Amino acid sequence: LSVVQVDLSGIELGSRITLKWHGKPIFIDHRTKKRIEEARRDDHNPDLVDPATDAQRAQRPEWLVQIGICTHLGCIPLGQKPTDPRGKWDGWFCPCHGSQYDTAGRIRAGPAPRNLDLPPYTYESDTLLRIG
Ligand code: FES
Repeated sequence: LSVVQVDLSGIELGSRITLKWHGKPIFIDHRTKKRIEEARRDDHNPDLVDPATDAQRAQRPEWLVQIGICTHLGCIPLGQKPTDPRGKWDGWFCPCHGSQYDTAGRIRAGPAPRNLDLPPYTYESDTLLRIG
């Protein structure tokens, strides 16, 4: 499918879901205030490997939409399930070589060279997301 529509109304606050787009996993995170604040706090952190503000990462702060493929060698990072390890920054943790991403999907530690990639997406309404 080249375009995927997602009804966001059923995704609980604080939960993350995974779907497929062009054969790739797409991570959707319905972020709590706490997660958004954690992400914004580091917007201008000089240690960011691939600098980006949270607003550049998420068109709407409560929804973070990313391609769930580690930018190192392509493993699928853990963190989508509540019981998964999420790393020191409480985002995503790649089990292959230990890359760690923060709550905005920015790379913070490990060998991955850049943040998790973002798919093209738009909001068709308050609750309808269109990927592709
Ligand atoms: Fe993720 Fe290497 S593939 S750290």
